[in-house]
Amino acid sequence: MKVIRDPGKLSRLLKKPSFKGKSIGFVPTMGALHAGHLSLINQARKDNDIVIVSIFVNPAQFGPKEDLRKYPRMLNSDLVLCSKAGVDFVFFPSVKSIYPKGYSTYVFVEDLSNLLCGLSRPGHFRGVATIIAKFLNIIGPCMLYLGQKDAQQAVIVKKMVEDLNFPVKVKIMPIVRQDDGLALSSRNIYLTDKQKVDAVVLSKALGLAKLLFKGGIRDTARIISRMSQLISKKQAKVDYISIVDLKKLEKIRKINQDCLIILAVKFGNTRLIDNLVIKYD
Ligand code: PAJ
Repeated sequence: MKVIRDPGKLSRLLKKPSFKGKSIGFVPTMGALHAGHLSLINQARKDNDIVIVSIFVNPAQFGPKEDLRKYPRMLNSDLVLCSKAGVDFVFFPSVKSIYPKGYSTYVFVEDLSNLLCGLSRPGHFRGVATIIAKFLNIIGPCMLYLGQKDAQQAVIVKKMVEDLNFPVKVKIMPIVRQDDGLALSSRNIYLTDKQKVDAVVLSKALGLAKLLFKGGIRDTARIISRMSQLISKKQAKVDYISIVDLKKLEKIRKINQDCLIILAVKFGNTRLIDNLVIKYD
């Protein structure tokens, strides 16, 4: 396994004749790797000749009051995990090499970026789209692996790939959860022991929504109200709970199609997200 820091070096390397005709699986991450990330890496390993994992805490996707500085950075243990998972290249660029002084070009996927998480994290998805676009240009044609955990991010990146004709296929992998249902996230390490227990309510609320749907309830307001009742029993602050269509992420009033139940909830200063796809038929 090779660790590459320089974007130009990675581009040049991948253009060498020895890489011609080889399929590349690319897994972008911000590090602090856990089993969720590893599920993406393992799938990329199965599907491709070459696997590239990027580790980059992308400043462009953090708001001024967010956790950029304290975001967990644990390169050494990340490298061990990558090496064990059979990764070929870890791309670990410096902030300077990605956003040199005077950097001024951003990618913004309209509409989709301004709802759900985009409302409380303005600029977040602009940062995500920009860094993914840059990485895809550095790496070239590849298979891109993303997690359903960040459902809105996945929809936005897919749309960007389609709209900007990137020669890239996107594969979305299911959410990896703890046994108690809590979705794995690098941010879970911020939680206190009590918050870790409380945070299980996210997946419980999604489970309740599924149960209500299966029991015949189609009115989304009713489902959402039951979910917020359940969450309000914990020391938590709901940012949003929404039931939206899968493509435009627009709110729906009645479930009469496949849809996404998605929520963001704060436990202290830690904002967690989770979601569930409901199949209509
Ligand atoms: P990060 O939070 O490190 O996540 C990297 C990838 O792992 C994302 O595609 C995310 O959806 C996926 N992932 C995280 N937790 C998961 C879980 N429990 N189950 C399945 N997949 C999971 O998302 C980002 O980084 C950044 O925004 C990035 C795409 C790297 C751009 O900077």
